[in-house]
Amino acid sequence: MSNKLTLEKLVSLCQRRGFIFPSSDIYGGLSGCWDYGPVGTELKRNVKEAWWRSVVQERDDMVGMDASILMNTKVWEASGHIERMVDPLVECRNCHQRWRADELIGPTCPACGGELTEPRMFNVMFKTHIGPVEEEGNVVYLRPETAQGMFVNFNNVANTSRKRLPFGIAQIGKSFRNEITTGNFIFRSREFEQMEIEFFVKPGTDDKWFEYWVAERLNWYERLGLKKEHLKLDVHPPEKLAHYARCCTDVTYLFPHGWAELEGIANRSDYDLKRHSEASGKVLDYYDDEIKEHMVPYVIEPSAGVDRSVLAFLCDAYDEEPDKDEIRVLFHFHPELAPIKVAVLPLSRKENLAALAKDVYKDLRPCFVTQYDDTQSIGRRYRRQDELGTPFCVTVDFQSLEDNMATIRERDSMNQIRVPIPSLRPTLQAKLAGEDIMVLPEGGVVWKEEKK
Ligand code: GAP
Repeated sequence: MSNKLTLEKLVSLCQRRGFIFPSSDIYGGLSGCWDYGPVGTELKRNVKEAWWRSVVQERDDMVGMDASILMNTKVWEASGHIERMVDPLVECRNCHQRWRADELIGPTCPACGGELTEPRMFNVMFKTHIGPVEEEGNVVYLRPETAQGMFVNFNNVANTSRKRLPFGIAQIGKSFRNEITTGNFIFRSREFEQMEIEFFVKPGTDDKWFEYWVAERLNWYERLGLKKEHLKLDVHPPEKLAHYARCCTDVTYLFPHGWAELEGIANRSDYDLKRHSEASGKVLDYYDDEIKEHMVPYVIEPSAGVDRSVLAFLCDAYDEEPDKDEIRVLFHFHPELAPIKVAVLPLSRKENLAALAKDVYKDLRPCFVTQYDDTQSIGRRYRRQDELGTPFCVTVDFQSLEDNMATIRERDSMNQIRVPIPSLRPTLQAKLAGEDIMVLPEGGVVWKEEKK
């Protein structure tokens, strides 16, 4: 993250370039809700896909699922959320702003200094009703975490996937919390997405697996580009633990508003499976063939926020560089996360050049998320792609008509190399996989180099 970054700058850039907009923008927005635009949607999808690949598809001990958002209300009674998912709410007697009592620094209203009411406990789950009549008997909740969908499906998944302990279930999906205070852009919102793992282990091996997942998850953020010095582990003291947790460590990130939780890794013990067994009357356990005994597995839960991850990747990738008389603003996204991988830019709109550039575009599009842009000057178009974090621009110029070569311009170094058009695909493929920019295909040349 550049130290020149403020949240205001990021919000404005995200809106201007189509990453993220306020929800219901034309009606003045809706507090705590955000919409992802064309580029932001690609970025968010890439974050989710990178997570899914790493925790599900590249592992033998994990399976995925996708539970419904609305669940039987008995789930939330058994899990303890109806009783315990509460925050202490206070209201200012003067300006009527509401605050979370446990997050206040002084005894008075932070907005106007007014006197505050006594705290009252407020359940953050959103309520709605099944069917046309709004009665107490048909109340349902929008899930405040995806986790419970995996616990109540433990038998279904274990029996159908035939996994043996230790194994995990992973899920990505929307969660909803009627947060008393939202803010810091997409950091805390009322509708958000989670990427959660419930990793079931034999009791007694839980401490070892807890340590394993803390290291694994920290490593995932680093591998995708977050700087080591912007990541820190925060071990919860016992009095800060959620009602279900034996221990918990947060991966925290240095956001522009300070260090804050990116992901929580908790040891939930056998709390959830036991509670659901007792409440449903259906035994949720595991038969260990080796010792010929039934056991209730312990659970290690790495629980990440998609939107918080997107915010961290945006903050860390943001940069400003002096560039002649101007400032070059860019996102150094990891190639796996970059919303657009390649932009094809014809130097002019002249017919014969446009035809060749379109052919290049059509050739690249099936392999990479590619954008075609023939508006404004080439310098402006490079800057626009920098602001979108596009790793490579391919420029087709008049010489291309003669030598059938095109220029690849690299975002971070601004190096430019000239490559035979038939070699563009494999060259870009290699470069997106992290190979050195100076490794040229046969016939390619370093055309210009602008080292910073
Ligand atoms: N199943 C455990 C659980 O939900 P949590 O710490 O409440 O634990 C996990 O949430 C993650 O979900 C957080 O680390 C954060 O990334 C994300 N998250 C939670 N509340 C959020 C909110 N209001 N807005 C955005 N992300 C949120």
